[in-house]
Amino acid sequence: MRRYSRITGTGSFLPPRKLTNADLVEQLAKTGVETSDEWIVERTGIRARHFAADDVSCSDLATAAARRALEAAGLAASDIDLIIVATSTPDMVFPSTACIVQNKLGANGGAAFDVQAVCSGFVYALTVADAMIQSGAANNALVIGAEVFSRILDFKDRTTCVLFGDGAGAVVLQASREPGILASDLHADGKHVGILCVPGHVSGGSITGDPLLKMDGQAVFKLAVGVLEEAALAALAKAGKQAVDIDWLIPHQANIRIMQSTAKKLKLPMDKVVVTVDQHGNTSAASIPLALDAGVRSGKVKPGQLLMLEGVGGGFTWGAVLLKL
Ligand code: UT7
Repeated sequence: MRRYSRITGTGSFLPPRKLTNADLVEQLAKTGVETSDEWIVERTGIRARHFAADDVSCSDLATAAARRALEAAGLAASDIDLIIVATSTPDMVFPSTACIVQNKLGANGGAAFDVQAVCSGFVYALTVADAMIQSGAANNALVIGAEVFSRILDFKDRTTCVLFGDGAGAVVLQASREPGILASDLHADGKHVGILCVPGHVSGGSITGDPLLKMDGQAVFKLAVGVLEEAALAALAKAGKQAVDIDWLIPHQANIRIMQSTAKKLKLPMDKVVVTVDQHGNTSAASIPLALDAGVRSGKVKPGQLLMLEGVGGGFTWGAVLLKL
């Protein structure tokens, strides 16, 4: 009998320090950086973001989200035999944040590694975990998206610093006789490395190059709206489904206008789209599991429903995962 993987629990965590647009506008004004609540809301849909305290790391956020997902699934940490953390803001150059999370959870012994696909990281990580469960390499996985993007923001650059925030989301993915994950469609095009990147690196004991986020927002926007539709349609075709069958579109939470455009192309009304970008801004790899968990905990997203998860970001990377909850 075929083996599938299935989400059996979700969890998320936002650090307590919340900055509304008004708070951020006031903070930025002190250093002569001009922006406004009106501009941020109109261009992005973002109303607030959360920033982790200085002594809080990516693995702390990831561990908190993972604990909530484990509780929802009714599993103990010791049941977990695979942890994948999608992040671009790891605690260290190495070892992986997944290994640090594994130790914090007390889930030692199984496989643990990070996936680096920036804002597409969660759909990449979910696809890898699904393949490992289908193959029999793992039974009970934690798939986590976690970021502390506040650490890589240039607060002198108003075109990027108003957009991002910190947070984590997690799912427990377990082997099942019932599907579960139905189809994935992942892509990358490395010729667009420069449109969204943190170009610095560690060399000889110091940072070489710029360690802060750079983005050509318009270039990312244009690419994103095209590829998200393609990935969604490809995943639907692989599963023999149609857009009209989707109960919930759960896209990367970067910009409400990108989500509206994708929904329109798929002919889905906005009331079938889970939107949380207003509450936490763009949290990169954490945004999809944060939105998924918010949908599940609000009672809107229910077991048995068909969900389309979609990510897009630096690399340039993009992808979609179609699943039955
Ligand atoms: O997570 C990975 C995926 N990332 C994304 O999906 C981001 C994709 N890109 C976007 O979401 C949008 O391109 C942005 C939100 C980044 C920018 O929105 P836009 O509508 O493309 O604005 P723009 O870059 O065309 O800038 C319009 C104007 C410019 O002024 P001028 O040249 O028209 O005078 C900017 O200087 O808005 C100005 N501007 C701002 N004004 C106030 C840019 N940032 C700000 C700001 N506050 N924070």
